[in-house]
Amino acid sequence: MKNIDWNNLGFEYIKTDCHVRSTFKNGKWGRLGIHRKDTITMNVAATCLHYGQACFEGLKAFRCKDGKVRIFRPKENLKRMNDTASYIHCPQLPESMFIRAVKKAVSENIDFVPPYGTGGSMYLRPLLIGTGPRIGVAPGDQYDFIVLAIPVGAYYKGNIKPVDAVILDDYDRSAPRGTGHIKMGGNYAAGLHAHSLAKKMGFPINLYLDSKTRQYVDEFGTSNFIGITRDGKYVTPDSTTILPSITNKSLTQLAEDMGIPVERRPVAFHEIADFAEIGACGTAVVITPIGRIVCGNKTFEYDSEKCGPVLKKLYDELTRIQYGEIPDRHGWLMEVE
Ligand SMILES: Cc1ncc(COP(=O)(O)O)c(C=O)c1O
Repeated sequence: MKNIDWNNLGFEYIKTDCHVRSTFKNGKWGRLGIHRKDTITMNVAATCLHYGQACFEGLKAFRCKDGKVRIFRPKENLKRMNDTASYIHCPQLPESMFIRAVKKAVSENIDFVPPYGTGGSMYLRPLLIGTGPRIGVAPGDQYDFIVLAIPVGAYYKGNIKPVDAVILDDYDRSAPRGTGHIKMGGNYAAGLHAHSLAKKMGFPINLYLDSKTRQYVDEFGTSNFIGITRDGKYVTPDSTTILPSITNKSLTQLAEDMGIPVERRPVAFHEIADFAEIGACGTAVVITPIGRIVCGNKTFEYDSEKCGPVLKKLYDELTRIQYGEIPDRHGWLMEVE
């Protein structure tokens, strides 16, 4: 075990022992290597630098109650990454290589996996970038696939505290931000301005409406939207311009297991006034309850003191599966040998 203050880990880059990497050249992927330096060298004309030919994923490994380390649903991330890869004309990642790479990134950094009971986990960041040179607009012919492994802390230390969200109503840049268009990664740069504007206004999170009509809820800057209706239904937007969240997919399954009706459908903006609970869901924090949503001079209020009962139940169920406290009844965990 590394000498780390596990209880005070945040969600920040930390240099670990190594990352794993494979290079695609002459039409095929090379051997998966282990790299101890956390820098890479590439051509100044690399397509990831000029044309944004790059995408990433985010998933986690957990040290479970029995001491074993398990990765949560890595095949889902592979599927999503390959969808993104075809969209930005990167080569597909073979399943066997992706799985070996995420497992290796964990096993080679095993002493960085936070102990069970601290609430921490190991965040895995697969990255696919065009590293071949091009000056004319065209995809490159060399790519690097990298997996970083970084220990992250418990987001909520005991108390799941709701946060306030803002809809930047004169802000119309959600479309080119590219979450739905380029799925995960690709280009979050166009969202950075909205994100920092929200932060400057005192809101940790911003909510995007659909950029075409601004009549429907899309998603939060870094997570999907869940609304729990007053009669206990789980509602989440069906939209082509949001990231298909693996956390949302998992929570939807757990909701169904619990007999909670699930509706995946367009969610009209005016409906946000009627939800009993609202949450933002994603790998990093599972569920962030929303206390208030501010949109211009309108404020929609929920419980700003504590997480609502339905979202709390779903949060507990998912985290208990992830830490091996209850049976993995859907086969979501993959053990790292
Ligand atoms: C824009 C956006 N939506 C949703 C999510 C949640 O996706 P997942 O549950 O697969 O982490 C993320 C993840 O970080 C995200 O960046």
